[in-house]
Amino acid sequence: MTTLGTPLTPQATKVMLLGSGELGKEVLIALQRLGVETIAVDRYDHAPGQQVAHHARTITMSDPAQLKALIEAEQPHLVVPEIEAIATPMLQELEAAGTVQVVPTARAARLTMDREGIRRLAAETLGLPTSPYQFCDSLEELQAAIDAGIGYPCIVKPVMSSSGKGQSKINGPADVQKAWDYAMAGGRVSHGRVIVEGFIDFDYEITQLTVRARGANGQIETHFCDPIGHVQVGGDYVESWQPMPMHPAALERSRQIAKTITDNLGQGLNGEPAGLGLYGVELFVQGEQVWFSEVSPRPHDTGLVTLCTQHQSEFELHARAILGLPVDASLRNPGASAVIYGGVDAQGLVFDGVDEALAVPGTDLRLFGKPESFVKRRMGVALARAADTDTARANAKLAASRVRPRTV
Ligand SMILES: Nc1ncnc2c1ncn2[C@@H]1O[C@H](COP(=O)(O)OP(=O)(O)OP(=O)(O)O)[C@@H](O)[C@H]1O
Ligand SMILES: [Mg+2]
Repeated sequence: MTTLGTPLTPQATKVMLLGSGELGKEVLIALQRLGVETIAVDRYDHAPGQQVAHHARTITMSDPAQLKALIEAEQPHLVVPEIEAIATPMLQELEAAGTVQVVPTARAARLTMDREGIRRLAAETLGLPTSPYQFCDSLEELQAAIDAGIGYPCIVKPVMSSSGKGQSKINGPADVQKAWDYAMAGGRVSHGRVIVEGFIDFDYEITQLTVRARGANGQIETHFCDPIGHVQVGGDYVESWQPMPMHPAALERSRQIAKTITDNLGQGLNGEPAGLGLYGVELFVQGEQVWFSEVSPRPHDTGLVTLCTQHQSEFELHARAILGLPVDASLRNPGASAVIYGGVDAQGLVFDGVDEALAVPGTDLRLFGKPESFVKRRMGVALARAADTDTARANAKLAASRVRPRTV
């Protein structure tokens, strides 16, 4: 049985989000609607999620001492990591000590915080199909790995990075030095380790949103959303749509892979089923063949489209699942999302053309409220529902193009 309290009273059900960007903001809104008391943590003030939570806290989340002090002071029932750059070993310690429950588990947060933990689990422990890969600590090791079998073309990524930062494709020997230097400049923590992956010439890629939620008898059940298709430019998502039509065998395979990885990440401290919440499983598809790429143990950026396509968006699904509530992961109608970038390095942007954007049929908009813009920072997203995904994609892109961020 789930019992929820009243916020700002001693009976409150308290949830702390570690990371309060645009995805965290939507999770917080979903929690607020259920009367949960929310604490939005980020590394800078006025982060999107901090603007909609009961409490806003600004700390360095990768600093174990700061993280421990904050969790002990706030005493949330649940801690929800929303980004990767967190002192996850400290979360494991606090979870093991019974101080706090981490969503979906502290182990899942730790394994997915760098590319090595999750790739070795998926490929070596669970035997899931992935691109061929090697981890390298120097330019020489990188060249040796390529020569020894990874071959060309291949992709180099810092082990600690997201949204395509520091990631580049190597087409031939002339690109190797450049790719190494780019990875060194773009990693989150400059400890010089990269993964080099053989290039998969996929037909398309999908995000398989997968939810672990409690069923009627209290047991944990796995639910699958319809597949989300997306386009990435430079390793960063620019548009997504749902549903993505798939060969039935590829869909079946995708769900098997998603179930295998989430069952493992969802294990509790003693191996028992736990790990409630929504996961974003990234897969590459060619014909009936499917490769596992990576997984987020939390809502996925390409899943922003679910705000206009599902009865319960990925954010509502996450909020419900982590609270032990039942979920409905079904599609309501086809739709698409298109990203709105800042286009400029500046503080306090204004957005022209919002009215023109929303005049496009079936559209909606999220402006995240980020205090600072960068040329390639995601500042908003246009959403469009339609009778089919082609129309939705065209309308989402049209609406996004009509929003014109500028400085004053
Ligand atoms: N081995 C590969 N073969 C072909 N394409 C790849 C490969 N690895 C990555 N890509 C492309 O680059 C994109 C980003 O890669 P990946 O998801 O590993 O990076 P990321 O920085 O974690 O991105 P994000 O945080 O946006 O998910 C993939 O979605 C895919 O389009
Ligand atoms: Mg990815």
